[in-house]
Amino acid sequence: MKKAVRVVELFAGVGGFRIGLERASPMYRTVWSNQWEPATKRQQASEIYAARFGPEGHVNADISAIVASEVPDHDLLVGGFPCQDYSVARTLNSAGGLQGKKGVLWWEIHRLLKEKRPRHLLLENVDRLLKSPAKQRGRDFAVMLASLADLGYVVEWRVVNAAEYGMPQRRKRIFFIGHLANTAGSESLSAAPSAKEWLLRKGTFARALPVVLKPGSQLSEFMIDGDLAEVTNSFNACGSSKTLTPFFDAGMLVGRKVQTLSVKSSFRGTQTTLGDLLVPEEEVPANYFIPREQEEQWAYLKGGKSEERTNRSTGFKYRYSEGAMAYPDDTAKPARTVITAEGGPTPSRFKHVVRCADGRLRRLMPLELERLNMFPDGHTREASDTKRAFLMGNALVTGVVERVGKEMASVLRSDR
Ligand SMILES: C[S@@+](CC[C@H](N)C(=O)[O-])C[C@H]1O[C@@H](n2cnc3c(N)ncnc32)[C@H](O)[C@@H]1O
Repeated sequence: MKKAVRVVELFAGVGGFRIGLERASPMYRTVWSNQWEPATKRQQASEIYAARFGPEGHVNADISAIVASEVPDHDLLVGGFPCQDYSVARTLNSAGGLQGKKGVLWWEIHRLLKEKRPRHLLLENVDRLLKSPAKQRGRDFAVMLASLADLGYVVEWRVVNAAEYGMPQRRKRIFFIGHLANTAGSESLSAAPSAKEWLLRKGTFARALPVVLKPGSQLSEFMIDGDLAEVTNSFNACGSSKTLTPFFDAGMLVGRKVQTLSVKSSFRGTQTTLGDLLVPEEEVPANYFIPREQEEQWAYLKGGKSEERTNRSTGFKYRYSEGAMAYPDDTAKPARTVITAEGGPTPSRFKHVVRCADGRLRRLMPLELERLNMFPDGHTREASDTKRAFLMGNALVTGVVERVGKEMASVLRSDR
């Protein structure tokens, strides 16, 4: 029996990282997890986490109230930290980025890294993190990278769309791996003779989620200079390039040096589609079917439009335009991204709607949303249907973690 990799899961939600890692290798042993939802009194994500994995080592408390000595020593810190600040639900202009309320949680991760010094980390966020904030594109990610470098970590990142690797949902997220100095992971990344070779073939992400160079893309290299306050104030703050992020969808950081390029998936396996995981129609409860009298409203919300609207509080008139959504959703393709507002019967532009063989339209069941994230069936069964959808909107496609976890396992094995 190989020595276990002790994992700490932060912002655990209902345990997407744990599921992915446990499927990747029996080496991974989650020794402690933390989940606390600031917006609600009832803590259902945490309750579900404890019900599925057992209450031992699970703490339902605000991470900022946890002192490092409460967290056991561990080898790998994982987590998908809250992304409201960069979320596609808001425009980039109103997103607060690192200085926003939720974004500050980065410094909680940083604090635990500093005090506990885990040898490895695997974190996830929305891909917009690479571009945030609007007035200083890439600054938030630059601050995170610089702060990791200063703690002694080398970093490798990749934007991954799960559907481009055969998985059933188009969910695009940034993942980043860090290795502390003097680990095998750090040494092989630091010694990589060619960043291009690493990012396209040899690195953990390249092996887990194969890619080729995006046509026309070139390796870009630059330093993130200055202390963290200087990075915050001056990273990409002036010049004509500040409207563009310097971070592409694959990259690495050694010391304060960044090397980054654009890639595209070269996956050639089987594609799972939305249709593959739908429940047989006869098992779908009546409340998932769209009542005839609501069909027009759904069609309007899903449709393309360009119309004059008036701001209710200011009376300001403006033209509102948006394109049409695929409606109903194409069951021969992977599904669109599941968002937290996916649940409930109220008509919405973003909820998935499929057409049944008899022509009726219906929403997706929580079980189907779990399948879109590659969670076990019924994983969130204790919660209401709307809450289950919310939990899946917050979660991740576990298959991505599984793939990365498998490749990381070989790196971690050579470490001990
Ligand atoms: C993006 S979700 C991660 C979901 C998770 N990866 C999963 O598979 O379900 C972020 C989670 O962080 C939790 N959270 C937000 N603020 C927190 C805090 N201050 N302390 C601990 N957890 C927090 C949220 O409730 C949410 O479940």
